[in-house]
Amino acid sequence: MAVMEKSPVARPAYLDGKTKLMLIDGRWVPAASGKTFESRNPATGELLATVAEGDREDINRAVEAARKAFTGPWSKWTPAERQVLLLRLADLVEKNIEELALLDTLDMGAPISRTRNNRQRALGMLRYYAGQATAIHGETIENSLPGEIFSYTLKEPVGVVGAIIPWNGPLTATIWKIGPALATGCTVVLKPAEEAPLTPLRLGELCLEAGVPPGVVNIVPGYGETAGAALANHMDVDKVAFTGSHLTGQKIIHSSASNLKRVSLELGGKSPDIVFADADLGSAVPGASMAVFANSGQICSAGTRLFVEKKVYEEFTAKVAAFAKTLKVGNGIDPQTQVGPLVSSEQLDRVTTYLGIGRQEGATSLSGGQQLTDGDYGKGYFVPPTVFTNVRDDMRIAQEEIFGPVISAIPFTDIEEVIQRGNNTTFGLGSGVWTRDVSKAHKLAKSLRAGSVWINCYQAMDPAVPFGGYKMSGYGRESGKQHVEEYLNVKAVWIKTA
Ligand code: NAI
Ligand code: MG
Repeated sequence: MAVMEKSPVARPAYLDGKTKLMLIDGRWVPAASGKTFESRNPATGELLATVAEGDREDINRAVEAARKAFTGPWSKWTPAERQVLLLRLADLVEKNIEELALLDTLDMGAPISRTRNNRQRALGMLRYYAGQATAIHGETIENSLPGEIFSYTLKEPVGVVGAIIPWNGPLTATIWKIGPALATGCTVVLKPAEEAPLTPLRLGELCLEAGVPPGVVNIVPGYGETAGAALANHMDVDKVAFTGSHLTGQKIIHSSASNLKRVSLELGGKSPDIVFADADLGSAVPGASMAVFANSGQICSAGTRLFVEKKVYEEFTAKVAAFAKTLKVGNGIDPQTQVGPLVSSEQLDRVTTYLGIGRQEGATSLSGGQQLTDGDYGKGYFVPPTVFTNVRDDMRIAQEEIFGPVISAIPFTDIEEVIQRGNNTTFGLGSGVWTRDVSKAHKLAKSLRAGSVWINCYQAMDPAVPFGGYKMSGYGRESGKQHVEEYLNVKAVWIKTA
């Protein structure tokens, strides 16, 4: 198999032409069925690797290994030992960050400038969870019972965690699931997205190198309807941590009923980004643009409903469209690229379908609006940054998650109105506000029904700050001390001392 022979940059050593196997019980094994699937570069269509295709039987084996590990020697590891393990993994990620960044770029298309930039985030998360490992504590609680009876709580790892992740940020998404599990003493069966399994699998190698015991981290690539569903249904999985679409999130909830496993869900959004006329428009233009165009719009919290105060609507949308036209769209391995391809032909179909729906609904595109097919663009799944104006709240492009580089710009006149219209969505993940007026900023921070409100910035993220959804954007929080709590059970202990 000729893998990546035309690639103009050094290819990662990981892409050596061998089939990528799954990690179960500390060993790399083929699928029980012997089946494989292909992972391809969405910028060029090139084959990157064939990958073992996991299904129910592989999931069963992985869960069995995870259960055995959970009750085995791993359960005796002290918090300080788990901390050292996470720090070792962080050091290995740091050492191999260029390869991991390149794998993300090749497998899902994001510009190398972006995937290299994930370094700080990836390392910051691992080191934050390392700190959390030694910060887990219960409470002593004064009870009101007569006599001498003492009560306190213990925090215990929830058990075997099934982690199901999407393709839009494979490195950080994997760390976001493995990190809290290792910090708390859980074990994991991770199912990467079928579109981008390579970075998670390489990270599995680094886990073994760091000394993660057999069965503590298992990685089973495969499709959602087969491997993913088997994991969500499994009777011996204690919790599912899911990131992806709300439709799949709903299926996960149904599956979780099998054994009433715990579920945390980080789903999609249609986030409002609100620009007041008094804002520093010089920073709001690139800020609001990249709130959508970063990662080609494939970010759950993208600020895709751009509400602009009417008196600056024409000016502001024209500037955003002009900015959009300056962005370099291309193959992610080019360091100059700012907007890469969409991840797959399915995602391309979805986004171009919405571009058509937008036009039919009467919106006007000030920039972009059509798939790029000239020259090398024709080999990949490229859509340029698109700004739709003449958008009404009830249009599908203003209500439904597109997951592409598409802004729906909507005018508004006053603050009460924009609060009501901003909240008029089934989702509630991100939100943005651009203003110099501190009272407007505070009022919106309190009034927007979303898990994050970014004021005069967008998409700021930190390992210590919780992230998650309101409404149909899901429940549970990732990052922050809340994240670790999601992986813990609380046990009450009573001791009669008299
Ligand atoms: P998806 O939600 O179907 O896939 C996410 C993960 O769930 C993948 O690992 C997939 O294999 C798995 N999965 C799929 N069906 C499953 C099932 N029945 N049981 C268990 N696991 C299952 O999302 P997909 O198909 O990649 O993208 C579709 C749309 O979802 C996107 O266009 C976007 O609107 C949204 N999305 C949102 C994301 C977010 O970060 N919130 C990430 C990815 C997609
Ligand atoms: Mg899907």
